[in-house]
Amino acid sequence: MSVTPPRHGHAFAAERPPDALQRYSEASRLTHWAVALAYVLLFCSGLALFHPFFFWLSGLFGSAALMRVLHPFIGVALAVLFFAYASRLWRENLLLPSDRRWLRGMLGYMTGRDELRVEGKYNAGQKLMYWSMIGFVAGLLATGLLLWRPYVAPAIPVDGRRLAAVLHAVFAFVMFVGIGVHVYAALWTRGSMRAMTQGWVTRRWARYHHPGWYERETAGEPPPDRRESA
Ligand code: HEM
Repeated sequence: MSVTPPRHGHAFAAERPPDALQRYSEASRLTHWAVALAYVLLFCSGLALFHPFFFWLSGLFGSAALMRVLHPFIGVALAVLFFAYASRLWRENLLLPSDRRWLRGMLGYMTGRDELRVEGKYNAGQKLMYWSMIGFVAGLLATGLLLWRPYVAPAIPVDGRRLAAVLHAVFAFVMFVGIGVHVYAALWTRGSMRAMTQGWVTRRWARYHHPGWYERETAGEPPPDRRESA
């Protein structure tokens, strides 16, 4: 079955069609955006702590001293919220044999040349991003805890703290690149942002991007011409 690709870009304002499919609950969306907000705050304060060139960013937090106190607390909040959110998605992100095919044909898919059948709720790119986010959030939390000044750091030998500081910066940098790709893909795929802002997607979006998920979601429904809302 060939499905016309939806245009790229994003649309926030469209009204929810009666036959739209629910992709994210309110609780999931709220948690996701709380994680995103925590991430932005951590990114700004992390940069200000990392290099004097970015010191001006500490103004966002009132003062540099307050920012230094807040950074680890926001980090723990991000980890708690992220793992609460991610723990509900792991099953949908397990890698399947069909994901290998997707990864091989990814470029053709992104340029709209090829159609790649996605079996699950997420494509292989999203799944790899999911598992790398798990790794990086865990790595940032572990190394960040070792550096936490009044509480943990005094008990850690200086070489251990130095290694933790280097790893913390490396993890933060790679995660920044990963989140950049995540945000770019979210904005580039028309209809994805609406899934995370309003919770729903059109049937056309689901059929084109995640046909396996679409078929599971609509299994057992009467054919389209007999559906009241069609
Ligand atoms: C800051 C701006 C962000 C934007 C605009 C954004 C946007 C989105 C959108 C539109 C989706 C839905 C994709 C779909 O259902 O196909 C999504 C899913 C998701 N987002 Fe974000 N996001 C942001 C930040 C983050 C951060 C900071 C994290 C984690 C540290 C994160 C983790 C996730 C995860 C785990 C999913 C589910 C997809 C999967 O399991 O692969 N997001 N995001």
